[in-house]
Amino acid sequence: MSVANTTTSRITVRRITPALGAEVRGVDMREPLDAQTRQDILDAWTANLVLVFPGQKISDEEHVAFTRYFGEPEIFHQKIIKSQRTPEIFRVSNVDEDGKLMPTSNPTVKQLSLSQMWHTDSSYKEIPCVGSLLHGVEVSRSGGQTKFTNMYKVYEALPERLLNLVEGRKCRHDFGMLHRLEATIKPLTPEERAAMPPVWHPMVRRHPVSGRKSLYISPIYNDEVEGLSAEETKALIDELFDFCGRPEFVYSHSWETDDVVMWDNRCTMHEVTPYDPAERRVMHRTTIVGTEPVVAA
Ligand code: OGA
Ligand code: MN
Repeated sequence: MSVANTTTSRITVRRITPALGAEVRGVDMREPLDAQTRQDILDAWTANLVLVFPGQKISDEEHVAFTRYFGEPEIFHQKIIKSQRTPEIFRVSNVDEDGKLMPTSNPTVKQLSLSQMWHTDSSYKEIPCVGSLLHGVEVSRSGGQTKFTNMYKVYEALPERLLNLVEGRKCRHDFGMLHRLEATIKPLTPEERAAMPPVWHPMVRRHPVSGRKSLYISPIYNDEVEGLSAEETKALIDELFDFCGRPEFVYSHSWETDDVVMWDNRCTMHEVTPYDPAERRVMHRTTIVGTEPVVAA
């Protein structure tokens, strides 16, 4: 696939790293999006997996309206994290909605801290989301970069031993895994569990737009791999986790205020680097609801 920079009638797309990621200029998310520019953005997304739109001084409503050009915005299933004011906004924030910094002991902050491990959003759903758009409202300086890894390249580089372990196999994605990783997170109630049962997805998937194969795992949710014991599962997921983080697959985004980063959850994973908990970090995310099940490849 070409990684060349492109300029269309409307937008300029500049590749950031050989791994993935491009910066897009010429879009104002406060304005209506015409069909041609929308298609140019989709093409750039398919080619680059992660798009960075600098300087988007958007309100939450404008953020949601822009997201709607690409699909239905997801409404998060938990009361915490979901914005009380704009339900389509998922608050990736250590500051509450009244503007107060929350301590690291706060359950929301604890849960969000798990995004410091590689994952792909809402993979615990039968039909996982398409992508996410994260807006830097108050960005951190002490850390808090968001790293993205190209799961096509990961798949293509897997050594044969790992390839044999993942090809044709499924793994389980369980939202309830979070409390097993972070003991202070409350286990799901039986009702929550019934509403969000674990799901099985192929570990190698085909992208519905590009047609390319990628590894599909989401280590913060993966608790079982078909045919493997608990120990073997953990060893495999841990090994894949490390492999996915190799620098040749990764772009690390250092945030500026009002960057919007749009990533494809069908062929990337992401994680945030640690930051000083005394520093405010307010990031607002919308998520594009999935329209089709994960297709095995
Ligand atoms: C997310 C996420 C990373 C970050 O928004 O889905 O994992 O940089 N956030 O906070
Ligand atoms: Mn995430």
